[in-house]
Amino acid sequence: MATKNVLRVENLTKGRILNQISFDMKPGEMLAVMGPSGSGKSTLLYNVSGMDRPASGQVWLSDVEITKLSEDEKARLRLHRMGIVFQQMNMLTNLNLLDNILLPAIQANRGRDRKSKEELNLRARTLMEKLGITGLENRRITQVSGGQLQRACICRSMMNEPEILFADEPTGALNKSAAGEVMEELVKLNREGTAILMVTHDSRVASRCDRIIYLLDGQISTQLTLGKSTAGAEKQREEKVATWLMEMGW
Ligand SMILES: Nc1ncnc2c1ncn2[C@@H]1O[C@H](COP(=O)(O)OP(=O)(O)OP(=O)(O)O)[C@@H](O)[C@H]1O
Ligand SMILES: [Mg+2]
Repeated sequence: MATKNVLRVENLTKGRILNQISFDMKPGEMLAVMGPSGSGKSTLLYNVSGMDRPASGQVWLSDVEITKLSEDEKARLRLHRMGIVFQQMNMLTNLNLLDNILLPAIQANRGRDRKSKEELNLRARTLMEKLGITGLENRRITQVSGGQLQRACICRSMMNEPEILFADEPTGALNKSAAGEVMEELVKLNREGTAILMVTHDSRVASRCDRIIYLLDGQISTQLTLGKSTAGAEKQREEKVATWLMEMGW
């Protein structure tokens, strides 16, 4: 089925965790998923991104039905068209930070329009600068902080210029000011055209998103539409989200 949405999820069911979930994402949308611990937020990202296989239901990335693809096809789609920042970060301990960030680009860089090593390096370093981790290129992943590693994961996920970024608690390991900074960068990446679907427990983080869906008992119990954030409106948006969450006994 052709669709104008960047992501379309229809009647997605996974065991007892997700029960007939449906939602769409418009191109360039930034959508937050909230809900209690154990409500299935991570499971939703795994099943939508094709890393896990739903029991039933359909998922489209733009015009491609992910749920019809083979494992190999899904892996290729993830490499070329999705960015993924998950709780289990899967960075390689025997590589330095820069080489970890470069890895998906090297994997994807085959065929006719191969980019030079310099070009890939430049992109990785530009992303590292954007995310505030310049200078850490040669560190092992065991030699950086949790927050720095999380920023590196965002860099890695953006290497192949994905249409959509899936992020599970991208600011989870960060204190308030670092979370704010990383969020600022995610908002910028979103403004540059990458759709973002992120799980977060942080109402301030969620308040920067265009829309929030709330997962409860395997379903989207309610949603809040905020629209694109504009400078100066942060406090007002935060209050709106806080009130909304309070009404649900958050
Ligand atoms: N591989 C698995 N096999 C069986 N049950 C699982 C598996 N992974 C998660 N679950 C269960 O599914 C439910 C949803 O888990 P999930 O990790 O999606 O929750 P979550 O909303 O991301 O929670 P949190 O906010 O704590 O990260 C939980 O009850 C969890 O124990
Ligand atoms: Mg989770």
